[in-house]
Amino acid sequence: MKITNCRIPGTPELCDILIENGVFKKIAPNLTDVSGQTIDAEGRLISPPFVEPHIHLDAALTAGDPEWNASGTLFEGIELWARRKTTLSEQDVIERAVATVKMCALNGIQFIRTHVDVTDPDLVALRAMTQVRTMVRDLCEMQIVAFPQDGILSFPNGRGLMEEAVKLGVDALGAIPHGEFMRDYGVESLKFIMKLAEDNGLLVDVHCDEIDDEQSRFLEVLAALAISYGNGRKVTASHTCAMGSYNDAYTYKLMGVLQKAGLSFVSCPTESIHLQGRMDTYPKRRGLTRVKELLAAGLNVCFAQDSIMDPWYPMGNGHILNVLFHGLHIAQLTGRGEIDRSLEMITTNSAKALGIEDRYGLEPGKPASLLILDADSVYNAVRCQSPPLYSIRNGEIIARTEPAKKILAADSLGG
Ligand code: FE2
Repeated sequence: MKITNCRIPGTPELCDILIENGVFKKIAPNLTDVSGQTIDAEGRLISPPFVEPHIHLDAALTAGDPEWNASGTLFEGIELWARRKTTLSEQDVIERAVATVKMCALNGIQFIRTHVDVTDPDLVALRAMTQVRTMVRDLCEMQIVAFPQDGILSFPNGRGLMEEAVKLGVDALGAIPHGEFMRDYGVESLKFIMKLAEDNGLLVDVHCDEIDDEQSRFLEVLAALAISYGNGRKVTASHTCAMGSYNDAYTYKLMGVLQKAGLSFVSCPTESIHLQGRMDTYPKRRGLTRVKELLAAGLNVCFAQDSIMDPWYPMGNGHILNVLFHGLHIAQLTGRGEIDRSLEMITTNSAKALGIEDRYGLEPGKPASLLILDADSVYNAVRCQSPPLYSIRNGEIIARTEPAKKILAADSLGG
């Protein structure tokens, strides 16, 4: 396959891309080699595939069942999910998860990290998701995080369920320290998963401080543990909303620890601005972590959807460029340079968090996976939330978009 007239960020002239046997062979201007199918990108922007680094596929598409979340709070979401969880079957989880992966694939996502609730004595959702991971492998590479929604020390046999999840084949271990009954349990839960991950060679991705409580300080615990294990590249702190409420003196000290630890951060801007700040009157907090400041400190930060129509969030449709668009507003990353760099937050930064850099990116020798976006620049792709006209994975077209035409009537200007 050959793709001609490609605009690649950082490359001044248009390039052609030659793909052979599912791998990038050459990326350069005016390639004369012709091999099979040719697509003319007509000067459009080429991007590596989008990455969804934080989503809950086991809960997706359950919004309204058994009831809609009336308060819009995280806490009502957890309570509704606890009720819905009692009715789960493997088939139910598989059908909703596959449908959600398809939504993501149609929007250019080719890598997904999903959290799966393991506070269930039968681990129904996890058993289903290990099947989904295989079923969808032609559309995306999936990582599964064992996520203890109701806690590890605060849930009966919480530690045992995490160990069972490891045996069932998860890729990463999660925790929810701010949701445990007390702080000591939260600290202990982090020590437990970091040791379990180390013993089993797994990644770590913690729902960390997803609360507006400025006293919620589990991020420092996670970072300190990552420093002592020397595994910061394998550790992700998701949400860290409380950091948006920390005082500046403490944050200054914390930043130094985070830089030493080298963790990745996932912020879910549409979800957090929806769920957080609900207990505030006015001023009402945005509920996001300090995205702009983390980036300025040289830390790896990416954006994620978190939910698609579940008890926590009634919206969502797999359109992660839309999440980026809103995230830039909410985090005030709207300087021209910030917009021009922003695609990294749903591509290369997320790939780094997932630890997939060896098989990700527009480079000869890597799997030929890319998007042709309907825009001539990153700025316009983000501004217009341009759809991927083509999503190509390992040299095969897996999804296409035919954009709707908008036509102004000829006499609209009164001529
Ligand atoms: Fe989450």
